Amino acid sequence: MERTFVMVKPDGVQRGLVGEVVGRLERRGLRLVALKLMRITPDLAARHYAEHQGKPFYPGLIDFITSGPVVAMVWEGPRAVSVIRSSMGSTDSAAANPGTIRGDLGVDKGYNLVHGSDSLESSQREIALFFKPDEILSYERAVDRWVAPS
Ligand code: RTP
Ligand code: MG
Repeated sequence: MERTFVMVKPDGVQRGLVGEVVGRLERRGLRLVALKLMRITPDLAARHYAEHQGKPFYPGLIDFITSGPVVAMVWEGPRAVSVIRSSMGSTDSAAANPGTIRGDLGVDKGYNLVHGSDSLESSQREIALFFKPDEILSYERAVDRWVAPS
């Protein structure tokens, strides 16, 4: 069982796609264990995207991610990190496969609606940046054994 950090970015909130993204991940069978609407500060943005500091798109990325409210979430499930990345589609929405969130709902590389951790190490770092331990809930759903029998 893995936990991964997911965010609906400012473009997704502005376009009214929060429910669409949450609904897709729920239908995939993953379990929502934390969620909040928040505005990312420049300091948090810099820490979240530290790996991209110095790249040409970095200033625009920080401006974009701090430009409006986002929905930060933690999702849990078997191989949740790679399951979420596959549901999101590739970074450039214009090239993302149909059937993915980006491939169905977006056309831009920067305005690509969602973020998902790219590894288990990233997920642990990002979850700790956005959530206190007591904001993440542990619970079971009756349907879980029909999603992935253990
Ligand atoms: P994310 O971190 O947001 O989930 O996206 P990702 O892993 O698919 O892509 P990553 O390489 O981590 O890039 C982070 C975000 O930076 C923007 N970007 N713009 N203009 C560009 O060349 C460019 N490259 C990346 C995107 O918004 C990407 O999601
Ligand atoms: Mg990334």
